[in-house]
Amino acid sequence: MENKSTMNANLLFFSALFLVLVSCCSLSSCAADADHELRRLQHASAKADGSLSFLVVGDWGRRGTYNQSRVALQMGVIGEKLDIDFVISTGDNFYDDGLTGIDDPAFEESFSKIYTAPSLQKQWYNVLGNHDYRGNVEAQLSPVLTGLDGRWLCMRSFIVDAEIAEFFFVDTTPFADKYFTDPEDHVYDWSGILPRNEYLSNILKDVDSTLKESNAKWKIVVGHHGIRSAGQHGDTPELVSQLLPILEANDVDLYINGHDHCLQHVSTPNRPIQFLTSGGGSKAWRGVVMPYDPSEIKLYYDGQGFMSVQITPSQVDIAFYDVFGNVLHKWGTSKDLYSTTMYM
Ligand SMILES: *[C@@H]1O[C@H](CO)[C@@H](O)[C@H](O)[C@H]1NC(C)=O
Repeated sequence: MENKSTMNANLLFFSALFLVLVSCCSLSSCAADADHELRRLQHASAKADGSLSFLVVGDWGRRGTYNQSRVALQMGVIGEKLDIDFVISTGDNFYDDGLTGIDDPAFEESFSKIYTAPSLQKQWYNVLGNHDYRGNVEAQLSPVLTGLDGRWLCMRSFIVDAEIAEFFFVDTTPFADKYFTDPEDHVYDWSGILPRNEYLSNILKDVDSTLKESNAKWKIVVGHHGIRSAGQHGDTPELVSQLLPILEANDVDLYINGHDHCLQHVSTPNRPIQFLTSGGGSKAWRGVVMPYDPSEIKLYYDGQGFMSVQITPSQVDIAFYDVFGNVLHKWGTSKDLYSTTMYM
């Protein structure tokens, strides 16, 4: 067993290394390769066989309330059991209105002091949700937060290359028309994404080209908004029409999101892509289920919890858990170990 100070020292070292990698990327390699607008990060597997495992939680930052702390506790238990490599957050990281700035105490109170289990002291890859856009977006993207807690990494859209799997994180909030046409009482921080049409078409172009170039065995796309969902928010029509065709044309295996405060697995017959919602990080139990073809719904759970994903070169296994750590649903799929795009 590592003691706590070695662990902290390790974490500090890896955070420093990580910051160096990120800044090198932004200054040199990314700029040099004009086709890659999206930042690309490497996540080297710590495991000898190259396998990976991680947890996914979404819609969480409420200073421990609404069972956020209970979810965090069980994430710690399952995280240890699966020896996870990292954690993915599907956004809505801080309620109700994101962070006010880099000095907002919510960062500590809803993140650092909540996800305290040793197994969760790993890299966190975070995207932004619509609630995060109601605050200071630059604060969540700031390396200052990574300095405060070395696990933190949040970007708008980016790629994580973990060898057997490649992850495409997509900033989905600016796709949804209603935040622009009918913002209600909310003020969204759109600085950095205007002009909107150009911003969106660049994302789509970059995701398409990087997916095409990817020769990872497993391709996983992560965004805040659901593409297919039987939850309160339902399908996101802008993503169904603009993003989904790109994902299907490029053989994406999993689309993972939050936004609906539930745990959900949607799968369309004869289509390989699986739609997975992990948005049960805190406030749930909305009691809303939209009419949906029952043959497509593999799981719909309206309460709190999270998801795990385990990946080997030939197999992906997912599981959803409630606040007690009970498994609600499991699903897996395999691919021929030796088939690679090289021989096609
Ligand atoms: C916390 O979780 C329990 C068990 O699922 C549930 O009964 C309870 O309503 C939840 N509390 C809140 C505030 O959501």
